[in-house]
Amino acid sequence: MTRENNFIAHLDLGPRPWIVGHRGACGEAPENTIESFLLAIAQGAVMIELDLQLTRDGRLIALHDWDLLRTAGAPIVGEDATAAEIQALNVGRYQERSATAPTVEEILDALPPGFPLNLELKCRNADQRHYARALQRAVAGRRQLLVSGFEWNLLRQVREILPDIPIAPLAHESLPPVLVAARELRAAAVHCHHEAMTTEFVEEASRSGMPVLVYTVDDAAIASAQFAMGVAGVFTNYPGALKKGEG
Ligand code: G3P
Ligand code: CA
Repeated sequence: MTRENNFIAHLDLGPRPWIVGHRGACGEAPENTIESFLLAIAQGAVMIELDLQLTRDGRLIALHDWDLLRTAGAPIVGEDATAAEIQALNVGRYQERSATAPTVEEILDALPPGFPLNLELKCRNADQRHYARALQRAVAGRRQLLVSGFEWNLLRQVREILPDIPIAPLAHESLPPVLVAARELRAAAVHCHHEAMTTEFVEEASRSGMPVLVYTVDDAAIASAQFAMGVAGVFTNYPGALKKGEG
C-alpha cells in the first residue's frame, strides 16, 4: 500500500478533484459556525475545513482570528477567554447575522457522522501539550478527520499522542521546508497557498505519496489551473459555485 493509499484508507474523499468548504461556506454564512458547515455540505463540499483554538478553560472552539473584533465586534482574545465568554458573543455580527462559535464537540455532534473534517489547529500562546491533549480527547473514536496547521511543533506533539491520525502541515510560501516537515510527521497531505504552487512541488509531494491541497480558491479558472498542475483539492469559501463549475 502506498502512502497515498494510506491517506485514502483513513480519509475517503471520493474522486478528485476535492472541493473543500473553507470555514464551511463562509462566503455565504458566518465563518466557522454550524450554519456555515451545514451549508457547505448541502452545496456538495467533500470535506469541511475549520479553525480551532484552545480557550483559557481548555476547550477547543472554532475561531480563525486571534481576537473577536472582526467577527463579533469584541476586542477579546480567544485564547484568553473561556468558552462561555466566547459563546456569549455573536460571531455572525460581521455578516449582520446571528451565530455562536461552536466547540469541537458541538461540531462533531451537529454534522453527519463521519463527514470528513479538516481541523486546522491554531495556537499562538496556548500550551501546546494541553492543546494536543484536548484534541486527543475530542477526536477519540472519530473517523474521517484530517489535522492541519502552520504550527508544525504542535503537529509533532499531536503525532506523538495520535500516531495514526492523518496530518497535513500548512505552508503559506517557501514550500521546500513543508515537505521536510511533512515527511518527518508521516503526513497524509500538504496544504499550501495556491499562489506558491508549482507542478514540480506537486510532483515531489506525489513521489512521497502526499496529495497537495491549496487555499483559498474562489475562482473557477484558478481552480482549473491548480488541478491541471496536479493539485488534488482546493479550499473555497464558495463550494457551491466551484461545484457548479466542475460540471
Ligand atoms: O487551512 C487552509 C487555510 O484555512 C489556512 O489559512 O488563515 O485561512 O486559516 P487561514
Ligand atoms: Ca483555516
